[in-house]
Amino acid sequence: MLKDGLSASMMCVNFMDTKTDIEKLERAQIEYMHFDIMDGEFVSNYALGPCMINSIRKGTNIGVDIHLMVEHPERKIEYFDLREGDVVSVHVETTPHLRKVLQDLKARGVTVGVAINPSTLEEKLKYVLDILDFVLIMTVNPGFAGQKMVSISLEKIRDVRKYLDGHNGSHIKIQVDGNVSVENAIKMKQAGADNFVCGTAGLFKKDMDIVTAASIMRNALQECC
Ligand code: DX5
Ligand code: ZN
Repeated sequence: MLKDGLSASMMCVNFMDTKTDIEKLERAQIEYMHFDIMDGEFVSNYALGPCMINSIRKGTNIGVDIHLMVEHPERKIEYFDLREGDVVSVHVETTPHLRKVLQDLKARGVTVGVAINPSTLEEKLKYVLDILDFVLIMTVNPGFAGQKMVSISLEKIRDVRKYLDGHNGSHIKIQVDGNVSVENAIKMKQAGADNFVCGTAGLFKKDMDIVTAASIMRNALQECC
């Protein structure tokens, strides 16, 4: 099961001093490190990869959350040294073999999610609901940090929550990713989000320490609903 709480978007760390940022994430008791894997194909950007995950996980016990923004994830998952309890999401838009890739991940003890772009209908999830742990709703167009939330996002979170609840999926969690500022996170939670991927908008801010930003985010989410 995906834990409720905060996932730190690792493409937003200070790559010149990753260790310091990870120590701060530990102090802030962040639930997961969220690794955006981008292949320059499904999204035009490139980011992160298995080497980085392998080397970082040696130095911390924070949970690993891998967001595969790549074409044909079924051909790529073998390159990841996955452990039981790791979290992995694949985009429904990237594979005709969605069920197979999710089954293969499950067989490795992984908590599995399907990520959906802002314009993707929740009905696409129908035939994998029985093996799904969570849905990742992109609240920006995928590929880049620092964007504004897509305007239909809150309506979409409500629609997905309703769809899951109406199809025996009340246990399936919702993760949101993109422009998760304190202000947006409160509205996202009220709409039905459970886990919040925090990047430049919520955690890695120019004018605030990571530990302080995390505590402000957590308090706001606790108090709002
Ligand atoms: C967007 C990425 C996000 C991003 C979120 O494609 O998946 O993880 O880093 O961070 P901000 O807060 O910068 O939108
Ligand atoms: Zn992501």
